[in-house]
Amino acid sequence: MIVHHDSPQAHGIAAEALRADPRFAEARRLMLAAVTEHQHEFSGVQPPQADRQVPYQHLLDQFAAARGGELFYPYIGSGLGRGPLVELADGSVKYDMIGGIGVHIMGHSHPALLAASLDAAVSDTIMQGNLQQNVESAMLLRSLLAAATATGADLPHCFLSTSGAMANENALKIVLQKHHPADRVLAFERCFMGRTLAMASITDKPAFRDGLPLALAVDYVPFYDATDPAGSTQRAVDVLKQHLARHPGRHAVMCLEMVQGEGGCHPGSKAFFAALVAVLREAGVAIFVDEVQTFGRLERLFAFEQFGLAPHVDVVTIGKLSQVCGTFFRDSFTPRPGLLSQTFTAATSAIIAAHTILNHLQTGGYYGPDGRIAAIHRRFVTHFSAIAARHPSVIHGPHGTGGMLAFQAFDGDTARTRKLLKSLFEAGVIAFAAGTQPTRVRFLPPLAAIDDAAIDAVCGILEQVLVTAAKDTPGGRP
Ligand SMILES: Cc1ncc(COP(=O)(O)O)c(C=O)c1O
Repeated sequence: MIVHHDSPQAHGIAAEALRADPRFAEARRLMLAAVTEHQHEFSGVQPPQADRQVPYQHLLDQFAAARGGELFYPYIGSGLGRGPLVELADGSVKYDMIGGIGVHIMGHSHPALLAASLDAAVSDTIMQGNLQQNVESAMLLRSLLAAATATGADLPHCFLSTSGAMANENALKIVLQKHHPADRVLAFERCFMGRTLAMASITDKPAFRDGLPLALAVDYVPFYDATDPAGSTQRAVDVLKQHLARHPGRHAVMCLEMVQGEGGCHPGSKAFFAALVAVLREAGVAIFVDEVQTFGRLERLFAFEQFGLAPHVDVVTIGKLSQVCGTFFRDSFTPRPGLLSQTFTAATSAIIAAHTILNHLQTGGYYGPDGRIAAIHRRFVTHFSAIAARHPSVIHGPHGTGGMLAFQAFDGDTARTRKLLKSLFEAGVIAFAAGTQPTRVRFLPPLAAIDDAAIDAVCGILEQVLVTAAKDTPGGRP
């Protein structure tokens, strides 16, 4: 029961009495106890059950036909898991190191999130929206704003939405309206911003906008290159200045994805962003940080804190692990009435879960150089480096920062990397690809649910799969 206590009118009303009803508490306790009992079956990787394989394949085929395209992995979850372990509907159990691409920070069947869902189950509506928001929405906003402003960012407002792409659309609308008639957008090469028409115009991947009209005029700036910090920073500043000079006064905003996720797990640096922001501030261009993937996952809650940009951010978006997506903005960027609205802000269960997750992350010792996220990073990196030392042509890297981790397998060929990912899946570890040529293997582990033993087990499986794959890979001898 996380959000109702401090509500001003919560005492003595019927909803509060319902939640205090001992029958509700007992039902909740029994359901959580049942889940705990059944999830204790899971202690490591298990193969599929032989008699489920044919119906499972049938389900996969039907699924692919219904959605109009094959699933990347033969993954259909059973609805039960235990931390980093997930059970699939064929009875197999696997380590989930990608978590719906960065969503399931608490892993599978986390008791606190199950409790949040049970609280939501007795709420009056499934979804909340602009005309109808409950107490927990207001409480979530209060906590999100306190977190966003804790280190000096001037972000007193946040508008909730249901996807990262929508949060980004809202951010773009806000800055374009404020800076009208400036209508050009600056973004990094290789960036990813989502799948709407406008976001597909910015996302720097041709296949993702194949056949689509361009909704926005975008000018690209090269991203930071960790192998050439000073040179890449200078090149980015030079290109930025050229764009600004070519279209004077026409740029409304620069979108900063501070650690490129889909683009290949590339972190920027404080000095790199500081150099760009100085030029942008001088030119009056808004600073928009897309934290849909980074939020909660680095050594600070917000990437803008980690990279020293708190005083400079005008608009920031979050999503994925927060379950509810949001667009934070400065007061001076407040949109005029009519610009932002939508039927749904989020499901009630997602809103209560978001609050639970935020609270857990803020109080659980996750952040800072000695926090759990840094420790998880170090443990993965130590394993990746040890594998690289034992099999030098097989794995390169590691790459990434905090809970965004990656390495390159062999020469980073996209088809070969996808094949490797499928072998890894079969062996019991679910990871994903990032970037193209080189394509990297990416892990977004469940940071609030993974212990050291699970990291060791995952990396043990990884090494075996890599060594086996190396035997069929030209130039990739183990
Ligand atoms: C940086 C970034 N922005 C935006 C998005 C889009 O979020 P969604 O898929 O929730 O629309 C993603 C999703 O991967 C992302 O990584």
